[in-house]
Amino acid sequence: MSLDLHNYVASVPDYPEKGIIFRDILPLMADGQAFKQATDEIVAYARDKHVDMVVGPEARGFIVGCPVAYELGVGFAPARKKGKLPREAVSASYDLEYGSATLQMEADAIKPGQRVLVVDDLLATGGTIGATIEMVEKMGGVVVGTAFLIELKALNGRAKLADYDVKALMEY
Ligand code: PRP
Ligand code: ADE
Repeated sequence: MSLDLHNYVASVPDYPEKGIIFRDILPLMADGQAFKQATDEIVAYARDKHVDMVVGPEARGFIVGCPVAYELGVGFAPARKKGKLPREAVSASYDLEYGSATLQMEADAIKPGQRVLVVDDLLATGGTIGATIEMVEKMGGVVVGTAFLIELKALNGRAKLADYDVKALMEY
């Protein structure tokens, strides 16, 4: 039987700032059946896309992306917050719903022509995923899909992803 994954998202008003409703996915991660269903739904979306690599941004993108990569039998490359990577890196900066930041990936994480699925827990303004895609493309990767547990419709991140295929398991 299929679960309604919305029941595994905690909505926290005024976090981290007044006016933001924080959508906390940790209850979903803590439930084996819900986590498996969410992973399976993203894997089903990606299955026919001939994905070579999964990429996810720090930190919640790692939690969502790694089991997807494992199930697809492909590698996972993290997009890390600036200053964490020991070797040559590519960078991209972006604005968030709250704040701004720079992400980095190791410069050889993606080989030219590799087909990449970009995964994160949540699509808000699209800044994070836009910066992640920018780095993948700088390395010559081809973004064949993007997948999220949650899309915040009001922030219209999807507009930034007009050139890409977008899958979101839940909308708020
Ligand atoms: C959150 C979330 C997404 C991003 C979405 O990450 O996990 O990555 O914001 O927002 P956007 O579409 O407006 O860019 P955050 O930067 O809070 O990092 P965390 O995963 O380390 O908590
Ligand atoms: N990242 C950006 N906006 C968010 C929100 N409202 N809830 C959880 N993570 C977020």
